[in-house]
Amino acid sequence: MDGGRRAFLARNLLLSFFFSVFSSRLKLSTAQMVPAVFVFGDSLVDVGNNDYLPVSIAKADFPHNGIDFPTEKPTGRFCNGKNAADFLAEKLGLPSSPPYLSLSKKKDAPSYINGVSFASGFVVSCVFPNFIPGQSIPLSKQVDNYIAVQKILFQQMGSFASEKHLSKSLFAIVIGSNDIFDYFVSSDLRKKNTPQRYVDLMANTLKGQLKRLYETGASKFFLTGIGAIGCVPAERVKNKTHEGSEERNFWSDKYNEELKAMLKGLKSELQGVNYSYFDTYSIMQSVVQNPSSYGFNEIKSACCGLGDLKAEFPCLPVSKYCSNRSDHVFWDLYHPTEATARVFVDTLFDGPSQYCVPMNVRQLVST
Ligand SMILES: *[C@@H]1O[C@H](CO)[C@@H](O)[C@H](O)[C@H]1NC(C)=O
Ligand SMILES: *[C@@H]1O[C@H](CO)[C@@H](O)[C@H](O)[C@H]1NC(C)=O
Ligand SMILES: *[C@@H]1O[C@H](CO)[C@@H](O)[C@H](O)[C@H]1NC(C)=O
Repeated sequence: MDGGRRAFLARNLLLSFFFSVFSSRLKLSTAQMVPAVFVFGDSLVDVGNNDYLPVSIAKADFPHNGIDFPTEKPTGRFCNGKNAADFLAEKLGLPSSPPYLSLSKKKDAPSYINGVSFASGFVVSCVFPNFIPGQSIPLSKQVDNYIAVQKILFQQMGSFASEKHLSKSLFAIVIGSNDIFDYFVSSDLRKKNTPQRYVDLMANTLKGQLKRLYETGASKFFLTGIGAIGCVPAERVKNKTHEGSEERNFWSDKYNEELKAMLKGLKSELQGVNYSYFDTYSIMQSVVQNPSSYGFNEIKSACCGLGDLKAEFPCLPVSKYCSNRSDHVFWDLYHPTEATARVFVDTLFDGPSQYCVPMNVRQLVST
């Protein structure tokens, strides 16, 4: 783990704010495109699960996170406002899927009907040797948690209705960036795996978890590739010319190729599976190359942080933040702003085949 990430993890604040919205509606309202959305993955889509991990320091429960959220308070999202999971739910006509841990702690029967978020900041898709216990919810555990929810839905709705409900629901998985970051900071990982072997391992591990979801009712999958993570402020600041890391971009791209091939294989292996793959890497390149056409002025610097590119010191309560959050691509060292999340979700939902393979989310949920 490098200095930036360690510093980011090493913050320690007691203030925590729990935000959750859930609906107990049992019928599909006309605006709803799917009965539910189940979200898995990392900090790009975490809506507050990590706030409930007692020993985790990988939390975003402190200012200035949440400054542009409707409540203007930190919510556990690693963002100034809403993140991609919120905008995806909005597009589907659903409330944001509440954090699983906020519901499982409730004594009264929790509502899982419109979906649940299992996502957890700093999670990786592969097990890696310097994994620190308790910091995030491993993907396999996220799937275990889903299976617990599936059992409850089965009891509440019966087998026929719950199977139908789940087969029409969307399963969104956003993971992999942390694996690539970790590979380049862990000499142990590099000693044990060539980069090619490592990205193969990532795709295969993910495939195993997708199969478990399929076996317990999922059939519509939405997956994102990794973005151009060599271009995040944390990487650019390491380079005097602020060009970022070509190597990290190269291996993100390689992983994305493995992921696409894996998904194609999965669809041919498992009957009834449909998926949409979003090419986060390409849309990020497009934003970085033509920022103004997306409404951005600042593609390199973080909005919240301190030092060069506001990336020498993470986004903490003592950090400075930019006055206009809608013209910055990046909120902090690693995470996009709400404005960027909105561009991504608009594109993954209705975008062309250049970004959405073999179909966009609207097409996926309409079949
Ligand atoms: C910055 O990145 C560019 C392109 O990858 C590379 O040519 C240059 O040597 C790097 N500079 C530093 C200081 O790392
Ligand atoms: C998958 O998509 C195809 C067309 O895109 C559609 O014909 C088929 O019914 C879909 N299958 C499921 C299980 O949704
Ligand atoms: C903030 O940036 C956006 C996008 O570039 C721009 O449309 C808006 O006018 C800016 N707002 C202010 C207050 O400068």
